[in-house]
Amino acid sequence: MFNRAKDRRIFVQLLSFFNAFDNVAEPQFRGVHCRPVADLHMPVANAFPSPASPQIRAVTAADVPALHALEQVCFDGDRLSRRRLRHWVAADNRVFLVAERAGQLLGYILVLLRRGTRLARLYSLAVGPAGRGQGIGRALLAAAEEASSHSGRLFMRLEVAEGNEAAIALYQQQGYRTFGSYPNYYEDDGNALRMQKRIRYRPENLHRLSVPWYGQTTEFTCGPAAAMMAMAALSADYTPSVSEELSLWREATTIFMASGHGGCHPIGLALAMRARGFDCAVYLNQHTPLFVDGVRAAAKKAVVQQVDADYRANARAQKIPVIEQEFTQVQLQAWLEEGALALLLISTYRLDGKKVPHWVTLTGIDEECLYVHDPDSDDEYNPLDSQYLPIARDDFARMSLFGKEKLRTAVVVRRARTG
Ligand SMILES: CC(C)(COP(=O)(O)OP(=O)(O)OC[C@H]1O[C@@H](n2cnc3c(N)ncnc32)[C@H](O)[C@@H]1OP(=O)(O)O)[C@@H](O)C(=O)NCCC(=O)NCCS
Repeated sequence: MFNRAKDRRIFVQLLSFFNAFDNVAEPQFRGVHCRPVADLHMPVANAFPSPASPQIRAVTAADVPALHALEQVCFDGDRLSRRRLRHWVAADNRVFLVAERAGQLLGYILVLLRRGTRLARLYSLAVGPAGRGQGIGRALLAAAEEASSHSGRLFMRLEVAEGNEAAIALYQQQGYRTFGSYPNYYEDDGNALRMQKRIRYRPENLHRLSVPWYGQTTEFTCGPAAAMMAMAALSADYTPSVSEELSLWREATTIFMASGHGGCHPIGLALAMRARGFDCAVYLNQHTPLFVDGVRAAAKKAVVQQVDADYRANARAQKIPVIEQEFTQVQLQAWLEEGALALLLISTYRLDGKKVPHWVTLTGIDEECLYVHDPDSDDEYNPLDSQYLPIARDDFARMSLFGKEKLRTAVVVRRARTG
């Protein structure tokens, strides 16, 4: 590793062209993504040669000669030709940024935006020898992620030669994770690693409440964890804890489920939150007892039915509205705007292939996605991936139906009552 100062700052000019990337056309290309790199046989710069900070800006046609020259020094094969560079400069289905200092082009990044997907693809990133080791690659990547996110993309994907240590270190540092590999991917038959990062964490019109994230501590307490997140967001006096998590579960459980311990019943959760002073309403698209089909033994079915009947009776006694109709995404948005939060039951089938009912807390909504705090963190090193998890609206319509009966349910939670 060469010596690089950590505290240098690149002035990133955030560009006002983000919205121009919607409705993009399918790109015409054969992948040459992140090609074999040239061995420069020269030391990299370890200090700014000039006091002026590099700037990041949108590419223009006048940059093509300098970009072409950069291609020659940065890559050994699969180089972008002048013609391809001109094509991508003129295209609108891409993010194409350059870094320059005092009129000298130091590096560039090209990201392709494919129609009909939430994915952005990092097609090429290069910083010439004069700019290396000064944070320019990192700044270009951050600016391209931002622009791709503004154009509706949720994930950035890339391929990188498995021996390209500098680039792999950069991507890992910036939160990219390897999820596969392609053998013989490059012109020189080298293998490629496939890496991905979620680039949009928070919706544009985020719920005005800041919702703390709480990770469930057992596999059956997603409901309590989702409820605690909502209650903690709605009341500064409410503090989530493991003790609370287990208490809520005991108050709201169905006792049995398909396997393992029971999960939480929506009316059970509403009763438990009401007991803590919160206003709740339950939306249910069925009036028959919930989760009965999931258990096989007749004795267990009887228990689940009894629990369901008891919860419904308690809800009637406490005047908790149980509204037996479908809720809509328009309603979800309205609840958020009014300052309420919603616990949603989803099937994790589309997330991990398991048909398990799972409670999440709705934390935001925009034109394309619902955003949820998922109490189940699949990666303890990056809990951010479980916060403001974007679910495309179409996907949500399918994910929010559970089981054969196509149960759709939500618990709406409002601020603690004062009186
Ligand atoms: C990969 C590349 C874009 C990095 O650009 P850069 O501007 O020099 O990188 P930065 O200064 O922004 O470095 C950011 C991080 O990347 C990693 N990194 C960069 N160069 C590295 C090197 N030579 N060895 C190890 N790690 C390196 C480090 O984690 C670094 O963080 P740090 O400064 O906190 O240690 C540049 O080396 C390049 O253009 N290489 C040739 C083309 C290429 O490989 N492109 C990528 C194809 S997928």
